[in-house]
Amino acid sequence: MVHRTSAIWLSLVLGPFASLSHARSVGPRDAVPEGYRAAPYYPTPHGGWLDSWKEAYTKAQALVSQMTLAEKTNITSGVGYWMGPCVGNSGSADRLGFPQLCLQDSALGVASADNITAFPAGITTGATWDKALIYARGVALGEEFRGKGTNVYLGPTVGPLGRKPLGGRNWEGFGADPVLQAKAAALTIQGVQEQGIIATIKHYVGNEQEMYRMYNVFQPGYSANIDDRTLHEIYLWPFAEAVHAGVGAVMTAYNAVNGSACSQHSYLVNGILKDELGFQGMVMSDWLSHISGVDSALAGLDMNMPGDTNIPLFGFSLWQYELTRSVLNGSVPMDRLNDMATRVVAAWYKMGQDKDHPRPNFSSNTRDKDGLLYPAALFSPTGQVNWFVNVQADHYLVARQVAQDAITLLKNNGSLLPLSTSAKISVFGTDAQVNPAGPNACGNRACNTGTLGMGWGSGVADYPYFDDPISAIRKRVPDVEFHNTDTFPSVDTPSPDDVAIVFISSDSGENSFTVEGNHGDRDNDKLAAWHGGDKLVQKAAEKYSNVVVIVHTVGPLVLESWIDHPSVKAVLFAHLPGQEAGESLTNVLFGDVSPSGHLPYSITKAATDYPDSIANLRGFAFGQVQDTYSEGLYIDYRSLNKRGIKPRFAFGHGLSYANFTFSDATIRPVTSLSLVPPPREPKGTTPSYPTTIPNASEAYWPDNFNRIWRYLYPWLDRDEADRAYAIGVAGEKKYAYPEGYSTVQGPGPAAGGGEGGNPALWDVAYEITVTVRNADDSTHAGKASVQAYLQYPEGIPYDTPVVQLRDFEKTRELRPGESETVTLRLTRKDVSVWDVELQNWVVPGSQGGRYTVWIGDASDRLFLACYTDTGKCEGGLKPPV
Ligand code: BGC
Repeated sequence: MVHRTSAIWLSLVLGPFASLSHARSVGPRDAVPEGYRAAPYYPTPHGGWLDSWKEAYTKAQALVSQMTLAEKTNITSGVGYWMGPCVGNSGSADRLGFPQLCLQDSALGVASADNITAFPAGITTGATWDKALIYARGVALGEEFRGKGTNVYLGPTVGPLGRKPLGGRNWEGFGADPVLQAKAAALTIQGVQEQGIIATIKHYVGNEQEMYRMYNVFQPGYSANIDDRTLHEIYLWPFAEAVHAGVGAVMTAYNAVNGSACSQHSYLVNGILKDELGFQGMVMSDWLSHISGVDSALAGLDMNMPGDTNIPLFGFSLWQYELTRSVLNGSVPMDRLNDMATRVVAAWYKMGQDKDHPRPNFSSNTRDKDGLLYPAALFSPTGQVNWFVNVQADHYLVARQVAQDAITLLKNNGSLLPLSTSAKISVFGTDAQVNPAGPNACGNRACNTGTLGMGWGSGVADYPYFDDPISAIRKRVPDVEFHNTDTFPSVDTPSPDDVAIVFISSDSGENSFTVEGNHGDRDNDKLAAWHGGDKLVQKAAEKYSNVVVIVHTVGPLVLESWIDHPSVKAVLFAHLPGQEAGESLTNVLFGDVSPSGHLPYSITKAATDYPDSIANLRGFAFGQVQDTYSEGLYIDYRSLNKRGIKPRFAFGHGLSYANFTFSDATIRPVTSLSLVPPPREPKGTTPSYPTTIPNASEAYWPDNFNRIWRYLYPWLDRDEADRAYAIGVAGEKKYAYPEGYSTVQGPGPAAGGGEGGNPALWDVAYEITVTVRNADDSTHAGKASVQAYLQYPEGIPYDTPVVQLRDFEKTRELRPGESETVTLRLTRKDVSVWDVELQNWVVPGSQGGRYTVWIGDASDRLFLACYTDTGKCEGGLKPPV
């Protein structure tokens, strides 16, 4: 399989500029707008100071203290692109039993592998709003990643968060809201890591568009300019929750934040991630985003991936042998390397990978049984690379359940749905049938042909099979008429009861591929359906009186050209269902189950309903493209509500065939809240090692070593090692340390203290219960989504969004007349704001202000209000949205 060929092709062309690219990375920064700072933060806080990681660190220290210098630099770096079975392969310390780690995409299934499950994408998972199901998907993913012998799952994705509707990779994450992202990510991490696989939360942070994301010889990656409060309350939130859930790895983003590249951003990595959020695991770079050797190490990066410079395949690295040299000559303190190695080993112990963890039994590079062991080497040894281990178990059931429970009914005029199987049905649109060339015909799914089950890029997996909608419909309605075209064909005049089901789609992905003029982001088709889909719906609506539109999409579309047409009676967003696109849909279409998905983003009437900063992608600029978050906290429904703009379908919207009522809400304070969290505990002890520069002999090539050409190794020739060592011990190091550089470990900020921040932030402040009942006269069973939105007290000195999602639950399937009481919880953090002066989470209502907790089944359907000051709840009010 060819992995993102275009990126590689580019790098081959640019090969001669390899050295230039390093120079660029440490050159002066481009100016970012006034007020956006990337302050220095040094040194990297040592890992190991939290009890939850104590045991792993004790074991890690025992192992790392036996490692030579070269072993330490080897395990903190990849060995090169395409130099092993996985998308990332780290170096090992074989002598001590520490293996190469296999790092593998993607967030929705084991990438480039056989006999796996292609699960629904993140956005589909988010649309279920079902915590138990999100967790179950995580467990199944973890089992498959383990079964294939990987160590690290390169997911979940929460950055992009979905700030820009046109952003190419929003579909990999769970929806355009920090709390939805955070809870879904935490449950995924829990499910995956319980199977002994290290999860990776990515991409940290501000990767909200694909275009211009990457540093290259001509241009730095764009700068996402984010103010401190917006960072904390929106973009950092899911990362904090992931750290709180114990995530083992974090991947930095390609882009810069406030002018400084994420892979070498001391404030973001040393400061926020490792000190404030107390992250104890390892931080890796995104693929080929490593642009400085010493700077990135000092800024807190622990592993570079896949090991190469940002121009791969020439056998050059900024770490491996270069990191060995930098330690010997005194540029990178031994203390930092020890911490890097310990973090990597601690994450491995934490997941129990020292005990019976399988080795990779597949190859990302070929489906043949035998193949090249190091495909990027000019002369590679060969051997068995695929064992075809089937890891699917019964995971299709979870996959199908997620796909089904995500299906979101936007409109159902005259209760057209569910359909009767005796209806005369005609199906239109190429999206109804699997790609005729096969579901995996396009590498990295970089085409939109046939049913759209996932976006494109690195975030995909190969389908083991594809249950397509038309086959599933034919199982129910054998004589269905299918027009496999996106141009409305000539058809006989239908009878008034005939039904047309029209399939349309919208795709996006990573910018390493351009599909039908879309460069990753939806820059060409924008928010219109692809292949003229909107026209197809209009034409069908002119002809038929009963039109059902099925939408497979990476994100919102503007539906205005047909949504109000009287014949368009029903619309289902099936999102990106993965391999289980068919039966999941027919179960809903024909009424075996009620739809229970809810929108994980808003659908506006026009793209321009958002301000330019989020409605549009940042285009080409000389120098660094500036993507300034001038809208602050106000994205998606926060933006629309602030400006009083009604969307077509609001964030959280989703109808059911059942008929639910919400009643009998209660609210009770659980923990009384001071203005700021109680003082944090001091940090616990961390492993300590000798910090003297090791002997040069620890860096010499082993005798008689059989080198693979272009493979990345940690060793140096004797004279090189000796020379570096001489400089180091003489204290002649010449490195120009960054401004603010220090080697003195600090106590950590007040907002920190535990994994994710001050542990008191997770104290439950309020518990809310509400009874959901499926009405006695309801004709269908169904699951209801219960969503809690918080409105801050009036008169506080902080501008806050009108309402913000804070918790959600889904009921079990309720039969007519059945009810369930659901509990929702608000933590201290949920009722706080980030105070940029105090640099802490402040509870603006701690002096008795009234928070209102709105409960409903969408951000604009808020049935009940509960008040924190009186402890009362009531219904029948006019909500603020
Ligand atoms: C993507 C990551 C992915 C990595 C490895 C990068 O291009 O941004 O999400 O994990 O490649 O394939």
